[in-house]
Amino acid sequence: MLTLGIESSCDDTAAAVLQDGDRLLSSVISSQDAIHTRFGGVVPELASRRHLESIIPVVQEALEQACVTLGDIDLIAVTQGPGLIGSLLVGFSYAKAVSYVSGIPYIGVDHMAGHLLSVFLEEEKPQFPYIALIASGGTSSLFLCTSFSDFTLLGRTRDDAAGEAFDKVAKLIGLDYPGGPRIARQALSGNRKAAVFPRAWLEEDSLDFSFSGLKTAVLNHCNLWKQKGCDLPIADICASFQEAVVEVLVEKTMIAARKTGHNTVVMGGGVASNQRLRDAMRQRCDREGIRLHIPRPIFCTDNGAMIALAGYFQFQKEAPVLYSEDVFSRSQLG
Ligand code: KG4
Repeated sequence: MLTLGIESSCDDTAAAVLQDGDRLLSSVISSQDAIHTRFGGVVPELASRRHLESIIPVVQEALEQACVTLGDIDLIAVTQGPGLIGSLLVGFSYAKAVSYVSGIPYIGVDHMAGHLLSVFLEEEKPQFPYIALIASGGTSSLFLCTSFSDFTLLGRTRDDAAGEAFDKVAKLIGLDYPGGPRIARQALSGNRKAAVFPRAWLEEDSLDFSFSGLKTAVLNHCNLWKQKGCDLPIADICASFQEAVVEVLVEKTMIAARKTGHNTVVMGGGVASNQRLRDAMRQRCDREGIRLHIPRPIFCTDNGAMIALAGYFQFQKEAPVLYSEDVFSRSQLG
């Protein structure tokens, strides 16, 4: 069975062709970073316009790279939400239209399900049940995953998502969007202990996250340097900020594993491509006797392959989506 996956929830237009549940034939991602960089974040109006220009060539390229035609496709899986409504509408309406004229069934996928299952694109697959940490520009959440379709929300951010914090801190210290990879690069030459930024643990054993106080602490720290008339020690700020985010993400994931009694952890979302987070989580899981599965960075950030995969498994249990269905801005999971 061949599934065409389509993703347009934020600022990446992506498409992929997946054979059955595990053989990826192609994955094409058209990034809009160059468009949004100068604004310090994604401009929704520009994002949807760019999706409109990219969607047809990106799908075409995914089909060509997989050496198939649309006639060979058995299922279209498309992101239905959460995300920017204007961006979502481009991919979703396109999938609906193609489905309508070709007769190929289409299914609407929750973007979060894609991140929760993206690790199955890798050779080494986890066993259910597992704890999943999803950290991206739109969310920081912990889920208990018991099957390809059963996800229980254990905790989520109460304010900024981890990726959002990376992007906002980058902007205030003068780094371009997207901030995550740029902060990670600067942090390589910085001292993680140069500044002590707060960690929001919230209530005892809470699995929720909060990163807005950390962002404010970085702002205050920068203001102090500026008042002294000194240049900002960018690398040290990046390393210290990154460490504060990583420590909370790792610790809360360990609490989730301990609380639920499960010893497999999976990561997903753009922030999961952060090397310091990957290393720290690996070290901690090794110490605690927990199995850890992390997708390659290319499957952590938004991609069409994870949507094809989640859609394929969803289709085994659910009927195709009706043409009257609409996109949604908040995740329906948990
Ligand atoms: O999953 P994703 O591509 O899109 C969303 O669904 O949000 O994640 C994008 C987010 C951005 O906030 C970006 O700054 C962050 O992931 N990110 C990183 C890294 N690469 C991307 N954050 C920290 N370190 C990275 N290496």
